[in-house]
Amino acid sequence: MYKIRKAEKLADKIYLMDVEAPRVAKHCEPGQFVIVKMDDKGERIPLTICDYDREEGTITIVFQTVGASTEKMAQLKAGDSFRDFTGPLGCPSELISEDIESLKNKKILFVAGGVGAAPVYPQVKWMHAHGIDVDVIVGSKTKDMLILEKEMEAVAGNYYPCTDDGTYGHAGMVTTKIEALVAEGNKYDVCVAIGPMIMMKFVCLLTKKLEIPTIVSMNPIMVDGTGMCGACRLHVGDEIKFACVDGPEFDGHLVNFDEAMKRQQMYKTQEGRAMLKLQE
Ligand code: FES
Repeated sequence: MYKIRKAEKLADKIYLMDVEAPRVAKHCEPGQFVIVKMDDKGERIPLTICDYDREEGTITIVFQTVGASTEKMAQLKAGDSFRDFTGPLGCPSELISEDIESLKNKKILFVAGGVGAAPVYPQVKWMHAHGIDVDVIVGSKTKDMLILEKEMEAVAGNYYPCTDDGTYGHAGMVTTKIEALVAEGNKYDVCVAIGPMIMMKFVCLLTKKLEIPTIVSMNPIMVDGTGMCGACRLHVGDEIKFACVDGPEFDGHLVNFDEAMKRQQMYKTQEGRAMLKLQE
């Protein structure tokens, strides 16, 4: 059993938990994820690692309620436990395996959408800890939905919040902020975009035009998380890749986002039935 040490609501439908999982905390790196299960019959839910404390033996996860299982998970409190907490899974972030000196010579842009700020945070924190200043754009629908702001500000070289409704920071989508920064003369060597698939798709369309290599972190439906079931398969260029073992990061300019979004829609009806059952 994996005890929840802290549980808090960050914004509407977005929750943060610190979970005691010493072995995962000892070995994980930014970019990797865990699969959690609340009980024996529970759904397996993949979640990117938002932060880790090797000394405390804890992992921080952030999730948004998007269906029956995550709604149920949001009701867990400090002191409750997860039945399973498997990880670290997937490959560490591509950038952190690069040579530190070559990273210092690069201008890196991170772009997060909504709850995507959670997986972006450990990468930016890692960069900061290694003396690398990066630009970070975080977008959300409204100011209330922006998460981890203080944390991100503390580790980002430049932090640019954006809201769709214009109530805070840059008014508009993250793509318009990227365009504005480039128009101001910023020349990025690489972009890392993490968030809803539709956001990553449009960031990639733009960065392809701007000729900025772009890494995305894919979050398709996962079942086993070990490359056996095929649930998380994606087309990346001409190849079929499994997000759980080959990713979750891929070259965003090669990912077939339309196909990935269509696959995600396949589960909507089952999800609707599960939600009704939860409300009975
Ligand atoms: Fe089963 Fe990736 S989740 S192959």
